[in-house]
Amino acid sequence: MTPKDNRVPRIICHRGACGYAPENTLVAMRRAAEMGGRWVEFDAKLTRDNHLILCHDDNLERTTNGHGKVAEADWEAIRRLDAGSWFGEAFRGEPVPTLSETVVELARLGLGANIEIKPCPGRDEETGRMVAALLLEEWPDSLPTPLLSSFSAASLAAALRVAPSLPRAFLVSRIPADWRERAQELRCAAIHTSHRHLTKDQVAAIKAAGLAVRVYTVNDRALGESLFAWGVDGVFTDFADRLLAI
Ligand code: G3P
Ligand code: MG
Repeated sequence: MTPKDNRVPRIICHRGACGYAPENTLVAMRRAAEMGGRWVEFDAKLTRDNHLILCHDDNLERTTNGHGKVAEADWEAIRRLDAGSWFGEAFRGEPVPTLSETVVELARLGLGANIEIKPCPGRDEETGRMVAALLLEEWPDSLPTPLLSSFSAASLAAALRVAPSLPRAFLVSRIPADWRERAQELRCAAIHTSHRHLTKDQVAAIKAAGLAVRVYTVNDRALGESLFAWGVDGVFTDFADRLLAI
């Protein structure tokens, strides 16, 4: 038997293949696999009644036909929503998936994942704890070890307490002056950041500290090429086909 490859690939399909299918849905995961993607990124948060679902925003309006805050909605109501038709008529009726359903689909597709813990306001600790606990329980051995990330230090700290064996990445929209201390404190193996303010020197310093650097959201091939030339380890893209050719 060949040993499992736990390395995170250079191209990660952002929110599934979200340039081609509604973000954070199972059809977006399937589309990512069809395009040759090996890993996906998606956002996980808690409903009011503590079900872990895939959703980026705090509110339901942009990506579903529902209204109001995810933090104030129960799973029974969210599971009836249409999370597809906002993106295109062909996706009408596509549901909001739970994290558990997503893990089952990833196993079927053979896709690795970076699970971004995206807590509703004030629910940082419990969301980090519950995502980590669910993955310990349900993540299949057949897939590469999942990578957790979050903009929330409290979510990452909670994940670290529950599942120290699951690797973590510290997410920042721009590299803070104390990136080294913060990454060390949360025992992160990587920093994930936006390309907007990133410099070549920052990439070199982070790499020299032994951490991986991954960059969102890179939808342009030339930008991807320059970031890889700087030594960036991976990019998150909505359009994997544009980047997989590099
Ligand atoms: O995890 C990378 C990226 O998804 C972070 O930003 O807002 O797209 O979740 P966002
Ligand atoms: Mg995300």
